[in-house]
Amino acid sequence: MRTYQLIAPAKINLYLEIIGDRPDGYHELVMILQSIALGDHLEIRSNGTQGVNLHCNHPLVPLDNTNIAVRAAELMIVEFPEAFAKYGGVDITIDKHIPVAAGLAGGSTDGAAVLLGLDLLWKLGLTVPQLQSLGAKLGSDVPFCVGGGTAIATGRGEKLDPIHDLDNLWVVLAKYNNLSVSTPWAYQTYKKQFGDSYINDKTGITSRTSQLHSGPFVQAISEGNGSRIGQLLHNDLEKVVLPKYPQVEQLKQVLKAAGGLGTMMSGSGPTVFTLCQSQTEAERIKNIVKDEIKDGNLELWVTKLSSNGIQVINNE
Ligand code: C5P
Repeated sequence: MRTYQLIAPAKINLYLEIIGDRPDGYHELVMILQSIALGDHLEIRSNGTQGVNLHCNHPLVPLDNTNIAVRAAELMIVEFPEAFAKYGGVDITIDKHIPVAAGLAGGSTDGAAVLLGLDLLWKLGLTVPQLQSLGAKLGSDVPFCVGGGTAIATGRGEKLDPIHDLDNLWVVLAKYNNLSVSTPWAYQTYKKQFGDSYINDKTGITSRTSQLHSGPFVQAISEGNGSRIGQLLHNDLEKVVLPKYPQVEQLKQVLKAAGGLGTMMSGSGPTVFTLCQSQTEAERIKNIVKDEIKDGNLELWVTKLSSNGIQVINNE
């Protein structure tokens, strides 16, 4: 029985702009996605049966096929029936480090790790683009999670253009563990409130994408200019999530006042992050926030930006 151990990093959104809606019910996005060093640890092991079993140490993680990790294994079975017939099913064990339902792509990155794990276990030899197009069938963030690093993501979020890696900065993440935001709710509410200003023609969408490519944010990233990156952080979903969740708004204000290069909510939240020039600065900000907000539900992490997607750490 072969086993692979993988690390599946989380992501933050440095930039998230909603530019229109799509016939498939999703939104046209222009984003800059960034991997961080905080990651789940997965073990994928051939189990010699016809089944897919998921184990996880976090009580809030579903173990059925509402979990993208299980759906990823089911997708591989459908796509590669001969390999499944030859090698059989798998046991997937997730050691959860990424906060759940946090806007950090924790579920998506586990799904990406299962795709790569099965590719290796079943000796399929899939390329990164092939894994990414399988990932797009599972969720908008899965393709990014496969390769990770720093990338412009457009379309639903599945069309990727890698840009200069940004791994010299640190980040403080903060989240109330008793709060979760529904991503469909956030997008639907945004559409209700701001749908009138959507761009719906192809030329307009293409031009918005190329503006980001040649714009100041990508330039600041290629220069590794942390202060400029901090000033340019943007997330349209803050416009609907912060008014509805005053605790998240307050958390953002406290983080911002504590210093750092810039503060923003990630994805549909409720995680808020501050970019920092150094680990020392990030730890200092973490301690200020911990002292200021005395709430047992508040969780804080310090980690580094990372240029890694899914990594294989061991196989036996
Ligand atoms: O693709 P994923 O399952 O991660 O998306 C979760 C939800 O977020 C979708 O069901 C949809 O409501 C919303 N979404 C969207 N437009 C996108 C990505 C996500 O409306 N580009």
